[in-house]
Amino acid sequence: MPIYHKLGNIPPKRHTQFRKDEGGLHYEQLFGTIGFDGMSSLMYHVHRPTMIREVLSETDVSPNISVAKSIKPRLLKGFDLPAEDDFLASRKVILANSDIHIGLAAPRQSLRSYFYKNADADELIFVHQGTGTLRTQLGNIPFEYGDYLVIPRGMIYQIDFDGDNNRLLFAESFHPIYTPKRYRNWFGQLLEHSPFCERDYKLPQDLETHDEKGDFVIKIKKQGVLYELLYPTHPFDVVGWDGYNFPYGFSIHNFEPITGRIHQPPPVHQTFETKAFVVCSFCPRLYDYHPEGIPAPYNHSNIDSDELLYYVDGDFMSRNNIEKGHLTLHPGGIPHGPAPGAYERSIGKTSTEELAVMIDTFRPLALTDEALKLDDGKYYQSWIE
Ligand SMILES: [Fe+2]
Repeated sequence: MPIYHKLGNIPPKRHTQFRKDEGGLHYEQLFGTIGFDGMSSLMYHVHRPTMIREVLSETDVSPNISVAKSIKPRLLKGFDLPAEDDFLASRKVILANSDIHIGLAAPRQSLRSYFYKNADADELIFVHQGTGTLRTQLGNIPFEYGDYLVIPRGMIYQIDFDGDNNRLLFAESFHPIYTPKRYRNWFGQLLEHSPFCERDYKLPQDLETHDEKGDFVIKIKKQGVLYELLYPTHPFDVVGWDGYNFPYGFSIHNFEPITGRIHQPPPVHQTFETKAFVVCSFCPRLYDYHPEGIPAPYNHSNIDSDELLYYVDGDFMSRNNIEKGHLTLHPGGIPHGPAPGAYERSIGKTSTEELAVMIDTFRPLALTDEALKLDDGKYYQSWIE
């Protein structure tokens, strides 16, 4: 996150003595990525963050790939994924490559009995159903329908859900997740033509500082293995921090669509970027206003990317028989486009209420066993007249 933020108490000078009221020093920790080159924050703990008491277990949680290579377009019925109580157990990876794991989750319960840290990947969680609070070492972020939560790798967190009917789309990115570079100036500030600005971000707030001793389990994901580590002090013991590396939220409803006289290409919807994929937000907007314009997208060949569209809400103009929570996967190598009739149907329409999230990966995606359970099996023939 290329803006500076701070919470709690920090010493006036970094790497200097910062004493507790009752005596003794706070324990400083640099939290950064890309070695010492990426964005970082400095946090100050009550206790040493290094006190491993025990490594309790290790479990391989790497996704089960069922279809490693495929050219078939597919429709996956995301809401058919069964709900599960536990947050981590409920998360099912459906598509994967060496850059990204994409999954769905329907957790019934808050993550409260342990802490979680993804040491491999930045996490992007899109909240389709549910409200609650993302609780992290660096502060809390309340979330609701339509929020993207961006959690940098290494951040220890828990999640509170207000109810038990929650639906999430998530991506684990093995490259840092940024906002698109073309929308930032050379200092990182979002420019005037950006479809969102710093004011739209939900920054961490209400820093929780727990000076507690006991048994605290942190489940840490590293190289596809989930390790359970036991610590003797509460992981949320930060009294203050500052810097640039922290979780944040952004509501898809705050994305201001870019429209034009004729059809605008998908990059105008771009919201996040990495080295290996982009994320776009398709939001309610006015259609093209050229008198001869065709609002539906043209057929296009995504030769070198796989295109995944997750349908959130509204009537999706370019497709037939699409429901909330459906995903369509258009693999690279072959063209795809509007469903039969959609091209013609769109003429004369002035606006759309569609809401969708698109993830385009530059390397092909493999399908997991969980994806095949949701596959309708016939979507690839849906363009036949
Ligand atoms: Fe497309």
